[in-house]
Amino acid sequence: MCGIVGYVGARPALGIVLDGLRRLEYRGYDSAGVAIVCDDELRTEKRAGKLANLEKALGDERFGSTRAVDQAAASPPAIGIGDGTAGIGHTRWATHGGPTDRNAHPHLSRDGRVAIIHNGIIENFAKLVAELEADGVEFVSDTDTECVAHLLAAALADLRDAGEPDGPQLLAAAMRRVCQRLEGAFTLLAVDAGIPGAVVGARRNSPLVVGRGPGEHYLASDVSAFIEHTRDAVELGQDQVVLITADSIEITDFSGAPALGRDFHIDWDASAAEKSGYDYFMLKEIAEQPQAVADTLLGRLTESGEIMLDEVRLTDQDLRDVDKVFIVACGTAYHSGMVAKYAIEHWTRIPCEVELASEFRYRDPVLDRSTLVVAISQSGETMDTLMALRHAKEQKARVLAICNTNGSTIPRESDAVLYTHGGPEIAVASTKAFLTQLVACYLIGLHLAQVRGIKYADEVAAVVSQLQEMPDKLRRVLDAMEPVRELARDLSTANQVLFIGRHVGYPVALEGALKLKELAYMHAEGFAAGELKHGPIALIDLGTPVVCVVPSPAGRGMLHDKVVSNIQEVRARGARTVVIAEEGDLAVAPYADDLIYVPRTPTLLAPLLTTVPLQVLACEIAAARGHDVDQPRNLAKSVTVE
Ligand code: F6R
Repeated sequence: MCGIVGYVGARPALGIVLDGLRRLEYRGYDSAGVAIVCDDELRTEKRAGKLANLEKALGDERFGSTRAVDQAAASPPAIGIGDGTAGIGHTRWATHGGPTDRNAHPHLSRDGRVAIIHNGIIENFAKLVAELEADGVEFVSDTDTECVAHLLAAALADLRDAGEPDGPQLLAAAMRRVCQRLEGAFTLLAVDAGIPGAVVGARRNSPLVVGRGPGEHYLASDVSAFIEHTRDAVELGQDQVVLITADSIEITDFSGAPALGRDFHIDWDASAAEKSGYDYFMLKEIAEQPQAVADTLLGRLTESGEIMLDEVRLTDQDLRDVDKVFIVACGTAYHSGMVAKYAIEHWTRIPCEVELASEFRYRDPVLDRSTLVVAISQSGETMDTLMALRHAKEQKARVLAICNTNGSTIPRESDAVLYTHGGPEIAVASTKAFLTQLVACYLIGLHLAQVRGIKYADEVAAVVSQLQEMPDKLRRVLDAMEPVRELARDLSTANQVLFIGRHVGYPVALEGALKLKELAYMHAEGFAAGELKHGPIALIDLGTPVVCVVPSPAGRGMLHDKVVSNIQEVRARGARTVVIAEEGDLAVAPYADDLIYVPRTPTLLAPLLTTVPLQVLACEIAAARGHDVDQPRNLAKSVTVE
C-alpha cells in the first residue's frame, strides 16, 4: 500500500530517497515525507498530497547545501537536509487517520530523535497507545504508526540505560524488541539522530527488499525504488529485522538469531520503470503488452514439449492427484482467473472454481491435499490473496502462484510459482499484468492436461504455437486503436456504460467495466449477456452505450449467435452498441453502431485480444474527463491490507 525507501551510503540521501519515492508513488499518494540524519540531528519534512507537495516544501534544500553556499557565498551553513547520507522516505495510502500533514509519515519520538515510517496496520495499536498515554506520551497524529516511534525511543533508552554500547546494533536490538510487541502487518524503517550511518528495517506480512550497492545500501517496498542504482537485491523473510550501514547488511529474526535473506538479480532496468515519452504509464504499459506476452511465453517449453514452471515444489504425481482447482485472486487478477476456469475445465476436465480471495476463507471452502489452489497476483503482496493462500495451506491444499514480482510474499509462500515476465507495472490500473496472467493460466491448464495424460505433447505445442502468434496479433490490435480513441472522446460525457459478453467474453466485459469505473469514475457494469434480460436490461435508456464482446463465429457458432441476439435486444431498447468482434464477422455489422475488429483467434484465447480496446477506451475516457490516469482517486497499486 504505502511506499517506503531507506538509504545509507556516501552520497546525499535526500535526492536518492525522493527519486525512490517517485518510483513508489503508485503504491499510495495521499501524503509523503522524509527524515534525514544530519550530523547529530534529524531533519524531517512531510506534506499531505502528492510527492510534488513535499518537493515544493523542501524547495532548494533538496539539492543540498552546495547550492546554498554558492548563492550565499558566505561561510558554509550547518549540514542541511540535502547533505545527510542516511535517511528514510514514505509515500502514504491512508488507513488510520486522514491524509493530512499531521498524519503523514515519518512519525517522530517525543524528543524528535527517532523517526519511523510504516506500511501496513498495527492491529493492537489501541492497547499500545493507551499504555503510552498512561506513561505521559501525548500523541500528535491519528495514526497507528506513531506508537511505534515512541516504543522504539523507549526501547533505545532502556538499552542505553542497561549499558548497551551505542551504535547501529543498538538500533537493531531496539527494533527487535518493538516488533515482538506488535500485531498485524508491518514494514517499518527507522533512523535515530544519535546513530548516524544506519537504517533499520523490519517486516511481517508486508514487503521489504534490500538493494546492494558498492559502499551503499537501500531498503524499499519494492526494487523499483533503487533500480537505477543497483540490480542486486536481497529478499527478506517473514518476521525479520535488517540493519543496513554503508558497508554491511545484517539480518536477524525478531529474537536476534542470525537469519538469511534470498539474493536475487533484477532482470529489468530503470528505463522499464520510466514513461518513455508516453503521457501515462498506463499507455506505455498497454503498448508493452505484445512484448510482455512474448516474454511470459519465452522458454516455457522444453525440447520434449513440456511446460516449465519457474519454481516447483510439487511432483508430477502431486499434479496427477489433483481432483479440484480453486483460483483465488482480486480485481483484475480475479477476472483472469475467470477466463482460466473455462480453459482449465475444457483442457483438463478437472472441476475449477474461481473465488474472490477476500471471501475465500470466510466461507470455509472444502479443501484437502488433492486440491490445487492457484493464487494470481501481480504484486505478490495483496493481503486478501495472501490470506486465502495461507488458509488453503492450513487445509493442506497445494498452492501454485502466478505472480509478476520476484521476491514478493505470495510466491515465497507457495508450493510452485509461474512468474509472468511483464516487467514493472506502475499505473495503478492493471493492463499488461492481466494479459500475462492469462498466458500463465493457459500454460498451467496445458501443463495440468499434459501431466495427467489428457493432452499429448503435440497438442500442447499446438496451443502454445497459437499463443506465440499473440504478440503479432496484439501489435495489429494496438495499431488500429485510433477509432477507439475517437469513440472514447465521444463517450466521455455518457452517464453510464454497460459491458456484456458470454463464455470468456463475460470476464472480459467485467474487466472493461472495472477499468472504466476505476479510471473514469463512471457508472459501468459488466454482465453475462444472457443475464441482461433477468433485470439489468432496465438500465438501458436511449443512447446508453453497451459494449458487446462477441465470440468467434468459427469457434462455437451457437455462442456467437446468442450474443448477436443479445446485441439486438439492447439495440431494440435504444442502446448505442459498441461491438468488439473478430475480423470477417459480418453477421454483427448490421447491429453495431461502432464496430471494432480484432484478428481471428481461437475462442479460449480471444480475451488476450478483446480486452485491449477496452483498456484503451477506459484510459482515453478518463483522460478526456481530466482525471489522473495513472493514479486514480482512493486507490493504490498494491493492497496490503484486508
Ligand atoms: C485493477 C487492479 C486491481 C488488481 C487487484 C489485485 O486495475 O489493478 O483490481 O488487479 O488489486 O492486485 P494483485 O494482482 O497485485 O494481487
